[in-house]
Amino acid sequence: MLKTEILKRFYQHPGEFLSGEGLSQQIGCTRAAVWKAIEELRKEGYQIEAYPNRGYRLVGSPDRLSPHELVARLRTSWMGKDIVYHEQLDSTQTLAHQLARDGAPEGTVVLTEQQTQGRGRMGRSWHSPKSTGIWVSFILRPEVPPQVLPQLTLVSSVCLVEAIQQTALEHNYPLPQEKVRIKWPNDIYIGGKKAAGILTEVSAELDRINYAVVGIGLNVNHTEQDFPKEIQQRATSLRIQSQTSWNRVQLLLSLLERFESLYQLFIQEGFAPIKPRWEQAALSPGTTVTVHVQGQLQEGRYLGINEDGSMIWQPVGGEIQTLYSGDVNL
Ligand code: BTN
Repeated sequence: MLKTEILKRFYQHPGEFLSGEGLSQQIGCTRAAVWKAIEELRKEGYQIEAYPNRGYRLVGSPDRLSPHELVARLRTSWMGKDIVYHEQLDSTQTLAHQLARDGAPEGTVVLTEQQTQGRGRMGRSWHSPKSTGIWVSFILRPEVPPQVLPQLTLVSSVCLVEAIQQTALEHNYPLPQEKVRIKWPNDIYIGGKKAAGILTEVSAELDRINYAVVGIGLNVNHTEQDFPKEIQQRATSLRIQSQTSWNRVQLLLSLLERFESLYQLFIQEGFAPIKPRWEQAALSPGTTVTVHVQGQLQEGRYLGINEDGSMIWQPVGGEIQTLYSGDVNL
């Protein structure tokens, strides 16, 4: 796609002027086609300067997660090679399931600016207002037994925390690394409130997975008012926690790149090499938690995770226990 090819070259030569002639020769199209694509990019919000005899220079990009922006900058070999983007969707999960059933390849990314019926874990809804967050689903075809799948969710949460930490570092966003924590199994908490969640869904037979869809919702640039009243006490965003707006494209690129490498490691070597990274990013053992067990709320202490990713905890006055699935609150 011409727009992607032009953006690729702008990002390879940051701050430099690129001539229309040079661009057209490198890409193999006419200068008129280059000019037309530049005009289209401008309409999308790219700030591109043009000077006679010097050419074009990119000076600003819009806050949009458009596929040509992502593809131009993505350094992965299979993750995000197919990006399905819509301004609005009911849920990226729903579309990802359809595409997976129709044979979409592993690494397909479904992305939107706004969800009207975003879905969370345990049948809850996920509030996904326009252009404030990252609402994305990954289609995967892991050749592992279905029992191993909960670990994939833990792997995804490591990718998410590390992508947030890396982006904060690179952009000097004032968010201390240790503030971003995973609450078992995969909620991301910052400053005691939830900033992101992961929903892993699967189509499987008894002994094999047909496909999995990992859905990630990350609250990025919400203000307090962007959250419905009833969740304002529990929900937060990167912006609220750091008092600054974040670059969503950078976050998503970092997430996709990290996901490709960690997922590959997980498929080849299992959860063992990833477990220490999950533990490093998780709440400290000893934290008080409330656990929903068979319809009952029990208070206790979180103690860590087992090799298979299940949670070790101890209810107040009770024996140490293992939790394989369920809901844990702070
Ligand atoms: C949770 O309950 O913590 C999980 C929330 C997952 C939300 C994401 S947003 C993108 C994807 N599409 C959805 O409908 N849900 C997931």
